[in-house]
Amino acid sequence: MRSKIVAGNWKMNKNLEQTEALLAELAGKLPDTDAEVMVAPTYVNLAAAVRALGNSTIEVIAQNMHFAESGAYTGEISADMLLNIGIHTAIIGHSERRAYFGETDEILAKKVKAALGKNIRVMFCFGEELEQRKSGDHFNLVESQLRNALFSLNASDWSNIVLAYEPVWAIGTGETASPEQAQEMHAFIRKTITEAYDAEIAANVSILYGGSVKSGNAAEIFSKPDVDGGLIGGASLVADDFVAIIKAI
Ligand code: G3P
Repeated sequence: MRSKIVAGNWKMNKNLEQTEALLAELAGKLPDTDAEVMVAPTYVNLAAAVRALGNSTIEVIAQNMHFAESGAYTGEISADMLLNIGIHTAIIGHSERRAYFGETDEILAKKVKAALGKNIRVMFCFGEELEQRKSGDHFNLVESQLRNALFSLNASDWSNIVLAYEPVWAIGTGETASPEQAQEMHAFIRKTITEAYDAEIAANVSILYGGSVKSGNAAEIFSKPDVDGGLIGGASLVADDFVAIIKAI
C-alpha cells in the first residue's frame, strides 16, 4: 500500500529563528492524519530543525544532496552528512536545480544511486516546461526524465523512491495544473513504471503533485486516484496554509 505524503519544500527561505518558530507552530497545529508529513528547510537549518521537532511525527528532509562521498565539492553536502544529522530523505531533481544549477539526467541518476546506496529515501522531481505541454510533448519528456534517472534501478530500489511530478509552468506561478491534468499525467507515470518494471511496483510508488498547490485547490487535486499527495512550495511557509493542505489529503 503506497503512502499519502504532504511535503513542504521551503527552498531558500527562513533563517534559524524563523525555522524554529514555524516548526513549533506546525508541531502544535499538526492535525491527525494517516499521511506522512515532511518539511525541507535549507541545509544550514536542517540539524536545528531535527532537534526542534524532537519526537514529532513530522519528518525533516533535505532539498538536495551531492553524489560524492566527500571531497573537493565546494558548497555541496554528502549523503553521510545528512544521515549524521538525522536526515533520511532527500529531494532530488527539483526543476530549479535542473534550471539554475545545470543538473542533467545523468547527474541526477548519480545522485539517486548515491542516496539509495546510503538507504536515503529519494523524492525524485520531474516535469515538463510550458512549451512541451503546448506542443503535446509533455508525456515524452516526463518518460525520458524517468527513464534516464530511474529506470536502471533494481526493482528493490523502488521501495525507497517517492515521485513528485511538478510541471515547471505551475511552480510558483499560481497556474496550477487542473486535477484532471494531474491525474492524466500520474496515471501515465504509473503505466510507464508498469511497463518498465511491473504492476506491483507501479501500484506501490507514491506519486506527489507539485506546482501552486494551495489550501483552496488541494482537496480536489488530492482526490484523484493516482495523486498520493503534494510537494508544496510557497504555501508550506505559512503554518495555517500548510496545515489546511494536510487536512485536505
Ligand atoms: O517543490 C515544490 C515547489 O516547486 C512548488 O512550489 O510555490 O508552486 O507550491 P509552489
